Amino acid sequence: MIIPQCSPVSGYQARKEEIDRAIAQVLNSGWYILGNEVDSFEQEFAAWNNVCHCISCGSGTDALELILRACGIGEGELVITVANTAVATVAAIERAGALPVFVDIDPETFTMCPVALEKLLVQNNKKIKAVIAVHLFGHPATINEISIITEKYGKILIEDCAQAHGAAVDEKKVGTFGIAAGFSFYPTKNLGALGDGGAVITGSLELAEKMRAIRQYGWEQRYISSCAGINSRLDEIQAAILRVKLRYLDEDNHKRIRLAQIYDSELSSLSSIKLPKKYSGSNHVYHQYVILAENRDRLRKFLNAENIGTAVHYPIPIHKQPAYLQYAAELPVTEEVNGKLLSLPIFPELDESAVRLVGGAIKKFYS
Ligand SMILES: Cc1ncc(COP(=O)(O)O)c(C=O)c1O
Repeated sequence: MIIPQCSPVSGYQARKEEIDRAIAQVLNSGWYILGNEVDSFEQEFAAWNNVCHCISCGSGTDALELILRACGIGEGELVITVANTAVATVAAIERAGALPVFVDIDPETFTMCPVALEKLLVQNNKKIKAVIAVHLFGHPATINEISIITEKYGKILIEDCAQAHGAAVDEKKVGTFGIAAGFSFYPTKNLGALGDGGAVITGSLELAEKMRAIRQYGWEQRYISSCAGINSRLDEIQAAILRVKLRYLDEDNHKRIRLAQIYDSELSSLSSIKLPKKYSGSNHVYHQYVILAENRDRLRKFLNAENIGTAVHYPIPIHKQPAYLQYAAELPVTEEVNGKLLSLPIFPELDESAVRLVGGAIKKFYS
């Protein structure tokens, strides 16, 4: 038996009839971009997150770019984020014309370290306009602390929720702590389309209106642009698929949580690995189940030989990647954990017995 690390096709097959019907309806409707399905999805996703506005777009990267542009952040301005994230977070900053400044992470949660953040902000660099907190692997960054700090120093707080649909702190969903939040619907995400897709959520009507304009050539009304824009629209087919999948998102997140509990109990006796931590009050939705493993690369090879898929998120932190060497930063924790992170198989359709099998193989490797 092969156990894949993730399986977007299983997500499709689990709801095949409903998804096929939804796609057929769109195909027959004759309307393919920004129509009724997109409108309905935006309303439903906003309601699911308990916010007023959702603006869908072409990808999670675009969602972050839309937020930055709508906030007026651009040319030569600085945005703080982490180097332990998808390159997309940084690509969005650059696309808006701004520059990233990297801050170190907390060794327990692998997300932005509030103490390191405050150390950067206390230097009073006026060019720093915003902070993008990334809720990585499905676990909320320590967002209450981060939002107190951004408020204290007068910086805009933006959330990158690409990996954290439904994660929460004290029952308040991530994406509702800052001025706006970007989501990705890349097929492997907790809420995944069958193609590219993204969205912004925000409580601000003013920002929402700006982003609706920017996502479509800056149009204030058809063919009349009121500002510089881009083309980043969600199509009707993806919106229809997302509407089906959104109905099952709570159930699917609970399945991920259940699988994570099984990993926890299978692996807790091993001293060579550290299990993912949750801080008190946080709801982790396990986009990934990521362990810190001694001899990570050897373990990975061993699991591969046992037909168990794994992934490394991410093999090189962004400040060490060829395209980003100019943003050098001292990030000891990011660099220390980087060589040990290993993402084990997790997706809602994964069998509990498969998780036990993975646990057994890891124990065999360290025995
Ligand atoms: C943390 C993070 N931010 C942003 C993105 C960008 O999303 P997309 O691939 O939809 O552009 C991703 C997706 O991989 C991500 O994981």
